[in-house]
Amino acid sequence: MVNETLEEIKKLKKKRNAIILAHNYQKEEIQEIADFVGDSLELSRTAAQVKCDVIVFCGVHFMAETAAILNPDKTVLLPEIDAGCPMADTVDVTELKKWIKKYPHAPVISYVNTTAEVKALSYACCTSANAPQIVKAVPFNSIIFVPDKNLADWVKKNVPDKEIIVWNGFCPTHHMIKKEDVLRAKESHPDALVVVHPECRPEVIELADHVASTSGMVRFTKASSHREFIIGTETGLLYKLKKENPDKIFYPLKKTMICPNMKITTLESVLSALKENKYVIKVSEELRIKAKQAVDRMLTLVS
Ligand code: 13P
Ligand code: SF4
Repeated sequence: MVNETLEEIKKLKKKRNAIILAHNYQKEEIQEIADFVGDSLELSRTAAQVKCDVIVFCGVHFMAETAAILNPDKTVLLPEIDAGCPMADTVDVTELKKWIKKYPHAPVISYVNTTAEVKALSYACCTSANAPQIVKAVPFNSIIFVPDKNLADWVKKNVPDKEIIVWNGFCPTHHMIKKEDVLRAKESHPDALVVVHPECRPEVIELADHVASTSGMVRFTKASSHREFIIGTETGLLYKLKKENPDKIFYPLKKTMICPNMKITTLESVLSALKENKYVIKVSEELRIKAKQAVDRMLTLVS
């Protein structure tokens, strides 16, 4: 049955001139069928460059929407329409507009985990892989940073000379990790390095040996001479980490670090997406042009 599904996906991909992009948190079988698996920055870069008619985006809504912003002439499909991001949902556009009025000297820098409407109100976007560099590079001393307060704190540490006005959002999957969880994991694996995502709480980051985006973690563990690592991000990344580092050992910081939205997509839903052309993610042209400016700035501000 699985083989039949895989064969059908392959055939339809060819017929529709489609490519499959997947985030590092996707299920193993989705990572296996994808043409490219990466972090949010790599996926945005790839989406901006791919030559095809259809992009099947195995991730969450804002990721497919970013691909649609960058590719008005392609069909962008999100196999599971309910795959959202609770962190992105914390930004209320009416409230953000009030902030923009209240702090006219501070343009908005939005994490890519936001809707097109929020991107359209932003000067530039950023991801976990480039947030401090983007904030450093923009020609302003004050910025409004939405929506992740933990990532904002990480940016503040790295760019202490700028004023950062912080939205009160967070990622439930990363924010659930407490200092005690790190201490417990360290006690169980005393020889392991602790690597965490910047969406984690400041007190968790404080205890880490390295802080990076998901693909940054893959690069760091590959380059390191260490053998054991405690990984503080969604557990889906462990598949790629183990695949790329067969001789190294990876422990999840906590086994419950699972993003339910990243796990909805299945081989069956990818097949249905290609077969039934669903769910098409489209942004109105007016909104797309405004949102694209912020995404383009991110892609050009820092290399
Ligand atoms: P990155 O893969 O860009 O680090 O993003 C993490 C994340 O939470 C995406 O939703
Ligand atoms: Fe959103 Fe967190 Fe899930 Fe990423 S892991 S999609 S930030 S809830």
